[in-house]
Amino acid sequence: MRTFCHPVSSSAPACYHCHMVHGKRYREAIDNIQKKIQLDCLIIGACLPFDVYLREGGRVHLLFKEGMRYTNCEKDILHGKNISEIYFDEKDARDAEQFISEGDEEDRVNVVDPVVFSRYDEEKEDYHQVERSLLVPGADIDFSVYVLNNMKISPVLELADSQSAKIGPELVQAYGDILIKKADLPKYTEYMHTMAKRIESLPSRDAEKVTSLVIRENSKLIIKDLIDDPRSGRKIKEVDREVNNIIDTILKNKDTIYDLIDLSKYDYYTYTHSVDVAVMSIGLATAINMDREHVEKLGIGAMLHDLGKSMVDHEILNKQGGLNSYEFQVIKKHVIEGNNILSVQKDFPRESFPAVLQHHEKLTGNGYPLGVAGKDITLFGRITSIVDCYDALTTCRPYKKAFTPYYALELLVKQKKDFDCDILREFIRMLGRLQKA
Ligand SMILES: [Fe+2]
Ligand SMILES: [Fe+2]
Repeated sequence: MRTFCHPVSSSAPACYHCHMVHGKRYREAIDNIQKKIQLDCLIIGACLPFDVYLREGGRVHLLFKEGMRYTNCEKDILHGKNISEIYFDEKDARDAEQFISEGDEEDRVNVVDPVVFSRYDEEKEDYHQVERSLLVPGADIDFSVYVLNNMKISPVLELADSQSAKIGPELVQAYGDILIKKADLPKYTEYMHTMAKRIESLPSRDAEKVTSLVIRENSKLIIKDLIDDPRSGRKIKEVDREVNNIIDTILKNKDTIYDLIDLSKYDYYTYTHSVDVAVMSIGLATAINMDREHVEKLGIGAMLHDLGKSMVDHEILNKQGGLNSYEFQVIKKHVIEGNNILSVQKDFPRESFPAVLQHHEKLTGNGYPLGVAGKDITLFGRITSIVDCYDALTTCRPYKKAFTPYYALELLVKQKKDFDCDILREFIRMLGRLQKA
């Protein structure tokens, strides 16, 4: 990733990045860098058609060179440094105006009506996202099923209390995330138990798949419970049990990772993200031959890495588009909040804390909450930061398209100074194997 080049000063040599020179020509050059725009005008995912500068105390820094792709990670770093305005050269004014006004529609964050979005976001809280493949056509269910698409939640199969029905093909064909009402979670859990009992009669690969899906769904339910009541702590032992189930499943057959992660989400759910980060972290840890005991500790930490989000203002957490520096400061608190919640839970292993505390740290020191760098970032922190960033990039929201796995990995590689190269290489290898499977 391109980071700040050295400040241009009259005593500095010509800068490699910005081709600035000292003396009179330097003065002329920085005099031209006066055009100011808001950082949030830069289009996430787009290649910058001009050099972007930062002015700080009379000094000018080249921030991004023309042609560089501007991503959420750069935006997060700059918001973290409370930078909201950037500058460009007078000569690039026309390019900049065109870039800001037109942009690339494919890459633009498409902000939807805030009132509609907030109503939808509130409504979504009454539902729980479930695994479509577990709702097998022909099976009996006694709970209603809905589909979420384009911020609309519509019934696919609506049942009155104590009514039951067979799952029909309309559910398989429904386009979007499959949801059930939160109030129906006990009925859904019961349904999963029934499915689990049938495993023995299935061919081995199908049995493996159903086992993985049940583990995944159970994990999501536990995390959801913990998010709703983060201080209860009564579920931590259950997290441990599901993490061990995930490890057993992956050790038995590495291809089951594919069944354990959700690759086709239409929206973001903290519980789904938490399980995906845990499964990919466990997969990565087993790929680098970490011993079982440590994989377990990593998995527990990864599963609960975002638990602190339960303490963050819902509106800020789910705000669409860019965040201002105050909002970003609020979001950043989720790491310390998570650490505080877990530090009083006797069942949460001490060794798991780095996965929580360091999942937003970067090797360059540009991460948060502590801005630790290099060797101060533990192996758990190095693994969870890669996986967390990848999962965030590949998840879509109603106002933001998801990056494809290939492009998300390309972005991580571009920012390789932030991440452990050996682990990133292993992660790419692991995902490559999954796609071939
Ligand atoms: Fe996080
Ligand atoms: Fe996360």
